[in-house]
This record gives sequence, structure tokens and C-alpha cells, in this order.
Amino acid sequence: MATRHFLTLMDLEKAEIHAIIQRAIALKNSPALHEDTLKHKTLAMIFDKASTRTRVAFEVAMTQLGGTSLFLSNADTQLGRGEPLEDTAKVLSRMVDFVTIRTFDHSRLELFAKHSEVPVINALSDDFHPCQLLADMQTYFEHRGDIQGKTVVWVGDGHNMCQSYINAAEQFDFELRIACPEGFEPEPWLLERSRARVRVVRNPIEAVRDAHLVATDVWTSMGHEAERERRLRLFAAYQINAELLSHARSDVLFMHCLPAHRGEEVTAEVLDAPDAVVWDEAENRLHTKKALLEFLSRQ
Ligand code: CP
Ligand code: NVA
Repeated sequence: MATRHFLTLMDLEKAEIHAIIQRAIALKNSPALHEDTLKHKTLAMIFDKASTRTRVAFEVAMTQLGGTSLFLSNADTQLGRGEPLEDTAKVLSRMVDFVTIRTFDHSRLELFAKHSEVPVINALSDDFHPCQLLADMQTYFEHRGDIQGKTVVWVGDGHNMCQSYINAAEQFDFELRIACPEGFEPEPWLLERSRARVRVVRNPIEAVRDAHLVATDVWTSMGHEAERERRLRLFAAYQINAELLSHARSDVLFMHCLPAHRGEEVTAEVLDAPDAVVWDEAENRLHTKKALLEFLSRQ
């Protein structure tokens, strides 16, 4: 049977993703369910970009399920000295049970997965951040129930997080409006494939009207640092603040994958609100990782 990978949300069936979310909720609520389900399993983690949540969530998830993890930085491995990804994939497949990779070009993940005999998990690429969406969806289900048929609004850069929200709209069956400055839209093919559920609404006030969920992300993602000043100017009208959220439903949830830049894409008032769910969202990175790793270990 072909090895199952998790490079985007579209790699799983709808029923499988929903089962992962439900398992994550169960694991969170019942520590007794942690029965060493990943005993003697090893996760290799290749990170070409910085990370706090994703790295810690993977490491803690493996520990809590009885397995172990290896953090492989470019500074210490032969990858950093030019060993081909294909060879690394073949070698790691002989020793570990899963590999997770955070990198720039999504094609690096696809190349690695093509040569890997063990599941490869996208820990963030320039195109997608599917693990984050598992946590976001768990958080919505916990606070508001099923997201099917709800209105979700992405405000900000049409980059990796936004593109994973497009996939989530398909897999969880919600309407997605995207408010982004001109020139910062998601890939046209993604918009086209999901045109029944997803549309660009340029004006952020119009976009968030009656929204159940509003999500954003940094304006300057990793790899875009040279454009920071220009982006600060172009994205200024897309800040999430109390005034903008007042146009959404009164019970709207706000999500941010973090790290956040208070005063840029979100105000401190919104991020630090007593009822903010962003900290649950961050915690749920751990629970969804556990459910995902368990799922992949059974394939
Ligand atoms: N949200 C997220 O992926 O955070 P890290 O970059 O800290 O992993
Ligand atoms: N869009 C951000 C997400 C960080 C978790 C980035 O790619 O840097």
C-alpha cells in the first residue's frame, strides 16, 4: 500500500480529518487515553525555518505517546552540506517511523515524500500549513461546534496559512472570504478549484460582515523579511482591531496561528482579550499532532 503523507489537508479524506479532530478533543479531555500508542516510534524533524509551537508540539506529542523525536538542524546534518533530499529520505526511512519537515519551497516536501517509505508531515512550507488548520478547526469545534456552513474570513496575506484555509473550506464545508491587498492573493489555481466556497472580498469591513470566524497571520512571513517595510504600508488597512470585528457576528471567534505582532496585523486589545481563543488554538497544536501521528502510524 502506498505510504500516506500529510503535505496538505487534501491528502486526507474528509471523514479521516474529522476523526483526527475528534480524537484530538478526546485526548485533550482524557489523559487516560494516552496508552503509549507510539511506543518505540521515532519522529525525525527537519526544520529549515524557525519554530516554537510546531517543534514543541511534535516533541511533546511523541513523548506523551511513548515515542521519541529527533531534531535535525541543517547545521548538524549532511543535508546542510548538500546531501540530496532523495538520499536523506531513503536513509531516514530505514530508521525512523515518521518525518516532519518545515521548509521554504513546497516542492522540497513533495520530493522528500516521493522517496520516503514513511509518512512525511508538512510542518509549514511557503504554500501550506496544514497542521495549524487541524488546531484551528479543533478550536472552533470546541468553542462553537461544527463549522460546516459557517462564514470564515481570512484577513491579510494570501500566503501559506490562507491557502490552508482554502483547503479547509473544502474539507470542512464552510464559506471562506479572503480580504487581502492587491497582489497578495492566494494562488489562482487554488481559488479556481474552490470557487464554489471561496472568494476574494477586497474590502475588509465588507468581508467580515456576519462572520463566525476571522483569522489572520503575520504580514511578513518567514522568507519575506526584505519586503517588511513595503508590506507594513500595503497591509495597514487589514489590521484586526475591535472596530473591524464589530462588523462581524457578536460571537465571532478570532484566530491567529502565532507568533503575532501586536500593533501590526492585530491590536493588543484583540489578542489579549480575556476571552481570546488564540491560546487554546496554540495548545491544540499539541493535541492535533498526537491524533495525526496516531492516525499515520496506523496506515
Ligand atoms: N504557528 C506556528 O506554526 O508557530 P511556530 O512557527 O512557532 O511553529
Ligand atoms: N505565515 C507565517 C506562519 C508562521 C507560523 C510564516 O510563514 O512565517
